[in-house]
Amino acid sequence: MRQSGRINAEVRAALRGAVRPGVTGLELDAIAHREIAARGAVPTFPGYAPGGRPPYPGAICFSVNEELVHGIPSDRVLREGDIVSIDLGVTYRGFVSDAAFTVAVGAASGHAERLMSTTEAALESGIRAACAGARIGDIAHAIGSRANGYGIIAEYGGHGVGREMHEEPHVPNTGLPGRGLRLKPGMVLALEPMFCSGDPATMELADRWTVVMRDGGLSAHFEETVAITDGEPEVFTRIR
Ligand code: MF3
Ligand code: CO
Repeated sequence: MRQSGRINAEVRAALRGAVRPGVTGLELDAIAHREIAARGAVPTFPGYAPGGRPPYPGAICFSVNEELVHGIPSDRVLREGDIVSIDLGVTYRGFVSDAAFTVAVGAASGHAERLMSTTEAALESGIRAACAGARIGDIAHAIGSRANGYGIIAEYGGHGVGREMHEEPHVPNTGLPGRGLRLKPGMVLALEPMFCSGDPATMELADRWTVVMRDGGLSAHFEETVAITDGEPEVFTRIR
């Protein structure tokens, strides 16, 4: 899982470096395919088809502005001032890592920057709470209590990750401390706060994948794959 996470981090760095005005989701998806293959790994997302959905077509999820998550890479062109969430699953020797970031295309508004930095800080807070002996509710509370007035998306959250991308338990982005499953060393969780500037209601588009904000407002999403250890949490999807 550690190696899978490192590859995920390296490929995400390449994707981040390629985000600029004029680039499309399909171009970034091609970079993801190439960089994953170059490392002897496999993209996790292509073909994923839970609950009767059509098989997911991309190696990345590419979600722009009011698109929250699971946006399908297309020839939609990124424009200066957009914010884009890029989500990447990597499978290496049978182990999955799942991570995402949101970034501005060129310069974004102060408002968009604050939404992104708040969401990223909430992820850090969730990671710090991912300690043996604590509970899922402690992570959920650590994330949700850092929303700073932004909307917290209730329909989606984090999850266990390992040989499968989505394993038990579900990790909500808001909750009560002291509740839920107790964390043990060896558990690995994908933590993924999603905050929005307006109403937190979402809807799925006709493609059965793209999740957008109902009110068309901005949303941000950050995710890391994190291991519970005897000591500090270990973030697998970051280069240390
Ligand atoms: N990181 C995403 C999640 O946990 C996984 C994307 S689903 C796929 O929801 F369809 F894109 F594969
Ligand atoms: Co995930």
